[in-house]
Formats: sequence, C-alpha cells, structure tokens
Amino acid sequence: MGNTVKAVILAAGKGTRMKSALPKVLHKVLGKSLIERVISSVFKTGCISETIVITGHKSQEVEEHLQNYSVTMVLQEPQLGTGDALATASNQLADFEGTVLVLCGDTPLLTAETLSDFIKTHQGSGTSLTVMSALLEEPGNYGRIIRDSSGDLQKIVEERDATAEQKAIKEINTGVYCLDWKTIAPALQELTTDNNQGEYYLTDIVEWAARQNVKMSVFQIQNTYEIMGINTRKHLSDAVKTLTNLTIDRLTNEGVTFISPENTFISPETSIGEDSIVYPGCVIEGENVFGKNCVIGPHVFIRGNVRIGNNCTVGPFAQLRDGVEAGSDVRIGNFVEIKKSVIGNSTNVSHLSYIGDSLLGQDVNIGAGTITANYDPLTRIKSRTRIDNKAKIGSNCVLVAPVTVNEGASVAAGSVITKEVPAYSLAIARQKQQVIEKWVERKLQRI
Ligand code: UD1
Ligand code: CA
Repeated sequence: MGNTVKAVILAAGKGTRMKSALPKVLHKVLGKSLIERVISSVFKTGCISETIVITGHKSQEVEEHLQNYSVTMVLQEPQLGTGDALATASNQLADFEGTVLVLCGDTPLLTAETLSDFIKTHQGSGTSLTVMSALLEEPGNYGRIIRDSSGDLQKIVEERDATAEQKAIKEINTGVYCLDWKTIAPALQELTTDNNQGEYYLTDIVEWAARQNVKMSVFQIQNTYEIMGINTRKHLSDAVKTLTNLTIDRLTNEGVTFISPENTFISPETSIGEDSIVYPGCVIEGENVFGKNCVIGPHVFIRGNVRIGNNCTVGPFAQLRDGVEAGSDVRIGNFVEIKKSVIGNSTNVSHLSYIGDSLLGQDVNIGAGTITANYDPLTRIKSRTRIDNKAKIGSNCVLVAPVTVNEGASVAAGSVITKEVPAYSLAIARQKQQVIEKWVERKLQRI
C-alpha cells in the first residue's frame, strides 16, 4: 500500500435544493466559495500530491472559478451519482498506487487538522477503506451507518432508502472517505442504480467491500459541526453563523472585544490584533489582517484582502474592498469607500469620500467629500491617483485620474484637479467667488 495521497473532490452535482442558477459549490460563505473552502483545507494538510475536482453541472463556470488553483479538473457528463462521479476519475488515477481521499465540494467547514487526522488514522489502520462518520442528535438527510452485531461496518443506507428503524440511527456518513485505490476501484464498476434516486451511490462501495471481506474502519469525527453539507440556502446561512462564532471565539481569546457578537459576521481568514474593538453591524469577508488597538465599526463592510496597521479606526459606515493596505494611525471615517488603494501612516480619510486605485502617502489629509474619479465609463479604463506625503486635499474635491498631487501640496476646497500639482504649492481649480452687493434687497423689492 503506497503512502501517497491524492484527493478527489466531487463537485459535479447541480444542487437542486439550492434553487439557484449558480452551481451549488460556487455559493459563498464569508467571501469564499464552498469549493474553495474544501480545496483550501485539502491543500493545508500538506500531504496531498494531486487534487482532482470532478465538475459537471455548469462545468465551465466551475473551471473558470478555479483557474488559479493547482487542481486537475475532470468532467463528469452526465451526472449519474456520487459513485459515478468518483469513477470518472479512474483514467486520471489509472496507475495510481496509494490512498485516495474522497470529499464532497459542499462540505466547507471541514478543517485541514481533521483531514490530516483522518488520513493518518486510515493509513495506520491497515484497512483499505475508512469512512468518516459523525454522531448527530438529528441525523436529518444524511446517509446512515449500518453496523453488524459485532459493530463492524456493513453498509451505508441513504435516508430516502432507509427503513424507519434505520432512520433512527444517529451515526451518519459525512461523505468523506479514505480508500486504497487499487483495492476499491473495482467496486466502482459494479455499482447499480437500484435505489430511490436511480443513481450510482458511492456509499455502496461499503457493502461491496463487506461482501469481498475487504477490511474497513470508521473514523468518528468529534467536531460534528465540521461535516455540515450545504444543500439549501438555510444551510448556507447556518454555515456563516458557525464560522462566525468560531472566529469570534478565537479572536476574543486573542484579546479582541466584540461589542455584539450576534450582530457581527467575520470570516475565519481574518486576524485582528490585541485591544481592538469591533462594534456591531460589521460584515468582514475574505482574508484580512488588522493590527493592534484598532476600532472597527459600527457597520463596516470589508470584502477581503485588507491589511490595516496598528491604532487605526475604520468606520462607522465604511466599505473597504479588493485590497486595501493601510499603515498605522490611519483614520477611515464615516461613509468612506476605499478600493484597491495603499494608505500611508497617520493619514486621514475621515468623511464621505471615495478613494479608488490610489496611492496615499503619510500624513495626508483628505477633506470631507473628496472623490478620486478613477473610472472612465466610456473607455472603461481605470486610472490611478497619487497623493504624496503631507499633501492636504480640501473638502469636496474631485481628483480626476490619472493625476498626482506631490509632497506637501495643498488643494483648495471644491477643486476639480485634472493636472499634476507640484510639491508644496497650492492648486485652486474653482470659480472665483463673486459678491453682488444688495442683490437680495433689490430682489425682495421687485416681488
Ligand atoms: C451524500 C451521501 C450521503 C452523505 C452526504 C454527506 C451518497 C449517495 N450519499 O449525500 O450518504 O450523508 O453526502 O454530505 O453519496 N456529485 C457529483 N456527481 C453526481 C452527484 C453528486 O459530483 O453525479 C457531488 C455533488 O456536487 C456534491 C457531492 O457529490 O458535492 C454530494 O452530492 P449530494 O447530492 O449533495 O449528496 P447527498 O445527498 O448530500
Ligand atoms: Ca450534500
């Protein structure tokens, strides 16, 4: 038995119960799709030599979504069930001697630690097939684990095919398996569609193995929340809650205050430094790093790849997206949106601004209501704005990109800046004020 491990992720199904035009595995939980979460956990185990993803329903969309991941994609067409899905990988695995870890693309909460543990346990067991099971108070729609009188694994019965007695069983199939490919692959050729759904069930390999006296074992997972399979929109929001709760528990232990955990959503890929406070109403998705002593919120929306230094405030009512990098002592205030920008230490963008595709130096002050006009809707070109150290932009300015404001320069309030502003100079780009004396008095006399 070789010790090399390859992973096969089944992701070809339509996900009918989601009632969605989007393939199920592309639905997101806190900024990352279901399939991305599964792939990340598989990669993080560090012991998988190849990851094969079985695509089918809207395969092009799934393939595009995963184009930056080093996975092998194999098409299952038509989709005849989970057993047929694994059989589709047969060509790719033709000469493979080793362990295959099988997972479903719709179980996004499985951690790398659990998977590593599972693989190690399987390889140490000396058996050819290990099924990951869980004990659930409410076994729901999961397949049931059927054991014989001596406790040995006998078969897995889908809930739809189960008798009332079998439905009462609380040990369920998580849909994760480790198997010795050479030993189990022949089973895939012998599956039938003799069941309620008329599909080739992968779960039937267990009964096959029992018949052939192939040795099997069961790995009972402790953190049962990890095995949650997403089949409906309700499951999707349950997964968001679970991941948020786990993340808040971790960060709370690390010295972060959450004023109202039940009104906060935060991805597990977010880290926040000690003595930071998160106010209610924040939605923090994707991968983010906040320094120490930051104040976030209330009502801040963060959409990933945000790096913020120490002693910063973000919000209330701010949006950061698509990669924002800020130094320390930065202030991002109310009704400010920042997109794909870098911001130096001690810079303030305190009120009512849009900063996009911009590079802001240190000690810069952006006056209330200032906008970087980065997008030309006719050419669809996005351009960059550069504001160097110590520059001060007055209130209600428009900086029409591409444009540069050099070090220490000032821009007068209400200016529309279209040309470079030299260092330490003042740019005024607005109508001079006119005063028409007694104008109001005269007008009042006329009416
Ligand atoms: C499956 C298991 C069930 C287990 C549960 C755990 C079977 C027959 N049942 O049920 O015992 O408790 O997972 O979550 O295996 N897929 C394909 N091709 C297909 C059909 C499905 O790739 O032809 C993929 C789906 O995209 C999905 C995964 O396989 O990611 C599981 O399919 P799904 O229909 O969700 O199976 P369950 O009914 O949840
Ligand atoms: Ca499922």
